Amino acid sequence: MSSSDVKNLRVVVLISGSGSNLQALIDGVTHGDLPIEIAAVISNRPDVFGLTRATEAGIPTLVLDHKGFASREAFDQELMRRIDAYNPGLVVLAGFMRILTPEFTQHYQGRMLNIHPSLLPKFQGLHTHQRAIDAGESTHGVTVHFVTAELDGGPAIVQAVVPVLANDDATVLAKRVQRQEHVIYPLAVKWFAQGKLRMVDNKTELNGELLPACGYQIEANEP
Ligand code: GAR
Repeated sequence: MSSSDVKNLRVVVLISGSGSNLQALIDGVTHGDLPIEIAAVISNRPDVFGLTRATEAGIPTLVLDHKGFASREAFDQELMRRIDAYNPGLVVLAGFMRILTPEFTQHYQGRMLNIHPSLLPKFQGLHTHQRAIDAGESTHGVTVHFVTAELDGGPAIVQAVVPVLANDDATVLAKRVQRQEHVIYPLAVKWFAQGKLRMVDNKTELNGELLPACGYQIEANEP
């Protein structure tokens, strides 16, 4: 079999906003670092910048506006149908700001990743940067994890830890965290595409070894 016969992992990326994490994945593909094909980008919000990024990269896009559905279940069912039409091996939530139904998370169990801007299990939910500052944390960061029915609760894959500095406000801290998001999300997707990453019994296995609850930790000491 020649290398041209090896198929890249098909990935569908779900977004709700600016899509900077999507861009990090696009850049990884462009630079030849990421053995994936982004088959489609789906947004639940029209007119977000992430859709422009996808179009500029030549990736098919789809808007499925949740406001047009009578229930969360009805939206998730249609979303599943649309995603599966692309036949992906992996679904990547990149700033997809929706609470997912158990049917949806079960369907993609072990093949859906999310990125959350905190050192989970700390600060699940919204406004994570301000809450880390208010709690007097000396460190903060970001987690990539497998998605399960528990909101922001699936097994961690990789965390990047950044310092919280004396004069930080939420905007400054968010920027420091986001620089790391764009490092660790492509890394986790690459591991998955290389077949190095699996979810086993609600834990993460990397290279055949179970990771600790915090996942693989990276210390980022840049200001
Ligand atoms: C990112 O900071 C991501 O960590 C966060 O949304 C942002 C999306 O930015 N996700 C969550 O809060 C999920 N609970 P992006 O659209 O520029 O990638």
